[in-house]
Amino acid sequence: MRRFADQIAVVTGGASGIGAATVRRLATEGATVAVLDIDKQGAADVAAEVDGLAVPVDVTDPESVRRAILSAEIDLGRIDVLVTNAGGDRPGFFIDTTPADWQAVLAVNLLGVMSCVHAALPGMRRRGSGTIVIMASEAGRVGTPAGAAYSAAKAGAIGFMKAIAREWARCGVRCNAVAPGPIDTPLLRNLEESGKLGATMRQAMINATALGRTGTADEVAASIAFLASADASYLTGHTLAVSGGLSMW
Ligand code: NAI
Repeated sequence: MRRFADQIAVVTGGASGIGAATVRRLATEGATVAVLDIDKQGAADVAAEVDGLAVPVDVTDPESVRRAILSAEIDLGRIDVLVTNAGGDRPGFFIDTTPADWQAVLAVNLLGVMSCVHAALPGMRRRGSGTIVIMASEAGRVGTPAGAAYSAAKAGAIGFMKAIAREWARCGVRCNAVAPGPIDTPLLRNLEESGKLGATMRQAMINATALGRTGTADEVAASIAFLASADASYLTGHTLAVSGGLSMW
């Protein structure tokens, strides 16, 4: 399948995990991909693999995002596909977290998404076309213990996605979201190694899925590619759960 032949894609958080798998998937299907990440070396490594462009960015800084999106547009000509995937968590029971923790989690998972879309939309509007895929999470739909701010941010991202879908549909821009369940990536592995995700908690997450296992970054990337492609041309404002049946709506 070469659903993205001659297309330009931008993937934030493309240096690792689901983002890196998405970069590889879009590139395999013909896209030229800009890898935007705060991890400069990681972005350069993934970009080199796919003959793409690495652009350093901190999505929590709107000015950094504006510059990064502009640099991708100048170097590659335009942006057809935007995947706002950069994210992370500071897990802990709500009562043990601080306002600084909530702000950091909202900054990357919600405000970072908004900054990226804000920077990329003008070009899409000018051309009358574009597709946006927002990284949400099942946490934003069903809530997750030890992730109150994260759940709030991801739920906010879903609401934001729907508003953008309505505002921009008639300008040729589609906007959808994916809501993964537990996916085996460095994010999950780092939580395990730091002791913030114990074996019981991990098993509880797996038990919550109907398929009884974690997902892979490639499985999420496949759904992102579907939503970004013309195969999903009549889909906008949709949240696609990629969670082994954790939720079924
Ligand atoms: P990961 O930790 O492997 O990758 C996250 C990437 O985002 C890293 O390359 C990191 O450098 C980048 N990043 C973090 N903060 C950034 C910032 N301020 N500016 C630019 N880049 C930044 O994690 P993973 O698992 O691949 O997560 C990707 C997305 O998927 C996140 O939004 C996460 O919340 C979401 N997600 C992950 C799930 C999982 O179980 N792994 C489940 C549901 C959603």
